Amino acid sequence: MVHRESLCVVNNVAKKVVNKFHGGIRLQKKKKRVVLLATGGTIAGTAEDARQTTGYRAGALGVGDLLRAVPELSALAEVRAEQIAAIDSKDMTEDVLRRLAQRAQEVLDAPETDGVVITHGTDTMEETAYFLQLTLKTEKPVVLTGAMRPATACSADGPMNLLEAVQLAADEAARGLGVLVVMDDEIHSARDVEKTHTASLAALASPPFGPLGIFAGGKPRLYRAPLRRHTAASPLFLPASSVLLPRVDILYTHADEDGALVEACVRAGAQGLVYAGSGMGSISAGAEPALRAAAQQGIVVVRASRTRAGAVVPSLPQWEQAGFVSGDTLTPEKARILLQLALLKTRDPQEIQRLFDQL
Ligand code: SIN
Repeated sequence: MVHRESLCVVNNVAKKVVNKFHGGIRLQKKKKRVVLLATGGTIAGTAEDARQTTGYRAGALGVGDLLRAVPELSALAEVRAEQIAAIDSKDMTEDVLRRLAQRAQEVLDAPETDGVVITHGTDTMEETAYFLQLTLKTEKPVVLTGAMRPATACSADGPMNLLEAVQLAADEAARGLGVLVVMDDEIHSARDVEKTHTASLAALASPPFGPLGIFAGGKPRLYRAPLRRHTAASPLFLPASSVLLPRVDILYTHADEDGALVEACVRAGAQGLVYAGSGMGSISAGAEPALRAAAQQGIVVVRASRTRAGAVVPSLPQWEQAGFVSGDTLTPEKARILLQLALLKTRDPQEIQRLFDQL
């Protein structure tokens, strides 16, 4: 269920200004205005015991509790907060994702907003981040963050992650970099970030190319910028509320595979399939006939890799002739998000390949 609570003005200092003496004239510099959209996750999780870091309830605390845990935020920005959902991110649905994206776009369009922070469970944060990277039309900073330890844990990581996310969203240097993810002192691009560990505080990483930057000495330090098209330059859009995202399933290969799962996905109404192949997106002889039959019916097949690092590029000529799209460096989960949005525009595998080569 999606909850929307009324706006909570944490730092009720809209009138507060930083006075700076400049050339004998007193200049008044307004604080940056950041909107915080909360969706749940471990950052809002609670447990019985401060030692408990598993088996807790994700999304139990409201956004007001998250903000009260970090009074230092008021020195960084004027933060307005809103509760979009209160879920464990394993349960993220199309409905919540679209509400989040719509609300983020609305607040980003408001001239008074300087940046947006989204708190989110780490389990599917990478998918939400990439969806927003492809659909939000903005140059303003959008930063997702979360935590690996619940808020009740001894040495919870959420408060520092939230502090750094707000600091980054209020920083001019983050403009035009697309959707960013801040966790454990690292700044990642939505396109590259993945959850790579079940429990470590450093559970998020960008295996293909590394993070864009880090926090050091209490400040963000950026070293690289994404070159792939994103946000305002992305040719993809959030669909109108009457249009559902097409069904795209992910198939994970293994030794001695047959085509039974492909056929099941086709029967379930898939319009696209992401095949997490072995090595460089290789398709087993057992699954290939079913994938070819699916492609002949107009279902778009994308080759990705279960290795989760490195690029999948055109390989055997028979796969090119069948019209299979190469998933580049995208994980199967991100290839699924891109394919869902691409299918709203076209069903032509060549055009979809062009999108995979640009985004
Ligand atoms: C979740 O993804 O909501 C739970 C796990 C986490 O936030 O780390």
